[in-house]
Amino acid sequence: MPTILGLSGSLRQASFNAGLLRAAAELAPDGTVIEIGDIRGVPLYDADDEAAKGLPDAVRMLHAQLDSADALLMVTPEYNNSMPGVFKNAIDWMSRGDGLKLFKGKPVALMGASPGGFGTVLSQNAWLPVFRTLKLDMWTAGRLMVSKAGELFDNEGNLTDGKTRDAVKSFVADFARTL
Ligand code: FNR
Repeated sequence: MPTILGLSGSLRQASFNAGLLRAAAELAPDGTVIEIGDIRGVPLYDADDEAAKGLPDAVRMLHAQLDSADALLMVTPEYNNSMPGVFKNAIDWMSRGDGLKLFKGKPVALMGASPGGFGTVLSQNAWLPVFRTLKLDMWTAGRLMVSKAGELFDNEGNLTDGKTRDAVKSFVADFARTL
């Protein structure tokens, strides 16, 4: 039974991207579990803190979840035509310690939602050199870019649009089938 670690790159309470990840977890095929990780407790990366105290607890927790997962699903917002700093910061922290060993060869799928018309395409592109550096095994057979998110999610950030839910369901099923 494949387990996928899902990470959303937004800290916002009613985040579209956190809602997209919840929908992916709800709509995952039987036998596939999407475990939702949390980047909220990850501090800003500081090499002096790392040298003095090692990895923060939140990063250790993410490492343990990544280690026991068969794959990673990253749900990325787009800020200024790239990935948000909070998400990149979390992944940077995760690349420390034994992180590179954990990322190496791990299948990863990427999706994202934005209120604009381009659905995080530039943010998704910005992750590509990071994935290459981490030696992740990026799944490229499917793409999911959710545009005009304001019309597709409710006020709590739950994905309510039927067509988009179908697209999420297919995306997750297609990815899970490769695991
Ligand atoms: C944005 N937003 C945005 N959207 C987009 O499609 N392209 C972009 O380049 C940007 N740039 C950007 C910069 C900054 C600093 C912020 C705060 C926002 C809008 C962004 O997509 C929107 O706030 C989403 O709601 C963020 O995702 P969550 O928090 O809803 O998951």
